[in-house]
Amino acid sequence: MTTLLFHSDLDDFTTWKEAIERTAPSITVRSTQDAGALEAVTAALVWAPPPGLLRRFPNLKVVINLGAGADSLLRDPTIPPSLPIVRLTDRALIDTVADYVLLYALALHRRQPELAAAQRAQQWTFLPPTPTAMTRIGVMGLGAIGGETARRLAAQGFKVMGWARRPREMTGVECFHGLAPPDLFLTQSDILVNLLPATAQTENLIDSPLLGRLKPGAALINVGRGSAIVEADLLAALDMGHLRHAVLDVFRTEPLPDSHAFWTHPRITLTPHNAGLCHPELSAGFVADVIARSLGGEALPSCVDRIAGY
Ligand SMILES: NC(=O)c1ccc[n+]([C@@H]2O[C@H](COP(=O)([O-])OP(=O)(O)OC[C@H]3O[C@@H](n4cnc5c(N)ncnc54)[C@H](OP(=O)(O)O)[C@@H]3O)[C@@H](O)[C@H]2O)c1
Repeated sequence: MTTLLFHSDLDDFTTWKEAIERTAPSITVRSTQDAGALEAVTAALVWAPPPGLLRRFPNLKVVINLGAGADSLLRDPTIPPSLPIVRLTDRALIDTVADYVLLYALALHRRQPELAAAQRAQQWTFLPPTPTAMTRIGVMGLGAIGGETARRLAAQGFKVMGWARRPREMTGVECFHGLAPPDLFLTQSDILVNLLPATAQTENLIDSPLLGRLKPGAALINVGRGSAIVEADLLAALDMGHLRHAVLDVFRTEPLPDSHAFWTHPRITLTPHNAGLCHPELSAGFVADVIARSLGGEALPSCVDRIAGY
């Protein structure tokens, strides 16, 4: 028997507990509020736990991040670099984020924000529809989620480019790589999608110089992390009309403060970090396998690279 600690303010404890214990009866899942003997906990399945929480468990061998971006764990100085952090990126998470980007890419392509504003003003504004092949989308980050998103956008008929750190080849997606987004990638993007993790390299990446290199009238979808955006620079680009619209799911401070300018900006559509979520039934087997491997001293899949920061 081993104990798995569960902590998340977003995900339902009981559903996860039932799914994991049904899949692996030798695992007992306990919540932070009812953790039992701290020494019995050998694994943790967590989303954004309070800093210092995991330090209470002396026999912790692995932390599974309940999502793709483990940045909140990496910011916690009390988690030793030797403790493996595994990312949970199940089919549900990949599909829901890819759906979100497809939904808003189509909305931006069909000028839905402008049509909604025209309706509110009771104006009959005809905006000529164009085929998806006439819109070019640049996807920053071609990982588990970014790669699938780029594929889906291409399958929808969009012209798709992708940018990652290391070279890769994808059918139907023009791939770029390197430490900075290449000019050709930025200057050709009608819609720029951010699916990069929060790291020191991606912090403040979307600033005035980068936005200025986009086509006039381009649009932005940010589903990566809020830290990628210099908020004042984004607002300036929207106010000038250089950027047509921004769809934002992630923010520097979450929940977004009541007084924040993003809430009411006419060129911003925002959602409360709900682009994607893992599903207990789809992930229980993976979680059980990670715990078994960790107890057996075997190599772990999907480990965060502490040096790269994702
Ligand atoms: N809004 C939501 O609900 C939601 C849900 C899930 C995930 N997310 C966000 O989406 C992010 C991506 O998820 P994922 O599963 O696709 O991540 P992943 O598999 O870790 O892939 C990350 C991608 O970003 C690239 N990358 C990292 N740093 C870079 C840099 N400095 N310059 C250029 N490319 C860089 C990587 O390049 P290489 O391929 O060369 O390594 C890789 O292609 C997560 O980290 C999270 O922040 C948001």
